[in-house]
Amino acid sequence: MHSVVVIGARGYTGSELLPLLYRHPGFEILAVGSGSAAGDPVSAHVRGLEGSELAFTDIRPQDMKAFRADACVLALPNGAAARYVDELDRHHPESVIVDLSADYRFDPEWAYGQPERFSDQLVNARRIANPGCYATGAQLALAPLLDELAGTPVAFGVSGYSGAGKKPSRKNDPEVLEDNLLPYTLVDHVHEREVSHHIGRAIRFLPHVAPFFRGISLTLAVETLGAQSEKGLLERYRAFYAADPLVDVRKGVPEVKEVRGSHHAVLGGFAVSEENPCRLSLVAVLDNLLKGAATQAVQNLNLAFGLDALTGLQES
Ligand SMILES: NC(=O)c1ccc[n+]([C@@H]2O[C@H](COP(=O)([O-])OP(=O)(O)OC[C@H]3O[C@@H](n4cnc5c(N)ncnc54)[C@H](OP(=O)(O)O)[C@@H]3O)[C@@H](O)[C@H]2O)c1
Repeated sequence: MHSVVVIGARGYTGSELLPLLYRHPGFEILAVGSGSAAGDPVSAHVRGLEGSELAFTDIRPQDMKAFRADACVLALPNGAAARYVDELDRHHPESVIVDLSADYRFDPEWAYGQPERFSDQLVNARRIANPGCYATGAQLALAPLLDELAGTPVAFGVSGYSGAGKKPSRKNDPEVLEDNLLPYTLVDHVHEREVSHHIGRAIRFLPHVAPFFRGISLTLAVETLGAQSEKGLLERYRAFYAADPLVDVRKGVPEVKEVRGSHHAVLGGFAVSEENPCRLSLVAVLDNLLKGAATQAVQNLNLAFGLDALTGLQES
């Protein structure tokens, strides 16, 4: 068994990751960090850990020296990972680190953890930057067309408010969100830069927050060099993801409600303009907390330790 420490474990993504690790046949949870819940049994805050004797502890960066874990998952807000990474680099450079924030997604020293695109680089990797949630969906939607893109693809994204994390803000305030839709960061969102960086061409990304809790729906508007057909796109996407069990491709429009609590992303709703068959749209949906975060972190940990990427990800 490989031992894992999770820091930021009481947050939305950490709370999804813990039950996956707890049930995982190849990993055991060594310690779980939370300042606000320090001393509390984990099972009092996180579902799926019934029977566990784990308790939260306040794990500061300087405490990392004491933990001889095989892996550490950082589920912290953007900007908070570096002090933990520095301590691990200094005291346990051999440990695997999976960082869920955006802090290392542009760092060439770190593997970029989208397993469907970069599994070769993730096998035995020691430093892994888990992709952003919207960025995961947008890249899965664009990857089969990368050789054929023309112009600037546009991704219109709508996320449940868990995407904003637990720290109170307008983006997770139930009163603000009631009967509402919040557009935000309409240029230069970090996921716009992330997708552009990792597909090698600029995209536009327009994020919104909706009143539902979890899930992301992305509608993409794409232009290609050659003419497309809906049947051809369906066949192309099915062939492209034939070996990726967590990416489903279908003819109809996928709806966000279907992927709530699921490890899968679903791509579909391929529509080609009759007037200009180089213009197409498609829809991607995924659970931001699972395939957009915790599921992908487990895929990455699996690959880092030479396990099958799907180990421990059976749907319950
Ligand atoms: N939410 C999503 O859909 C999603 C999807 C993909 C990636 N991500 C990324 O994953 C990371 C975690 O997101 P989240 O939504 O789980 O956040 P969250 O719900 O706000 O939880 C953050 C966790 O980090 C802890 N924390 C906050 N500041 C800290 C600091 N300076 N030092 C140590 N611990 C600190 C919190 O502490 P306490 O336990 O003490 O309260 C909490 O446990 C973020 O970088 C986010 O961008 C989020």
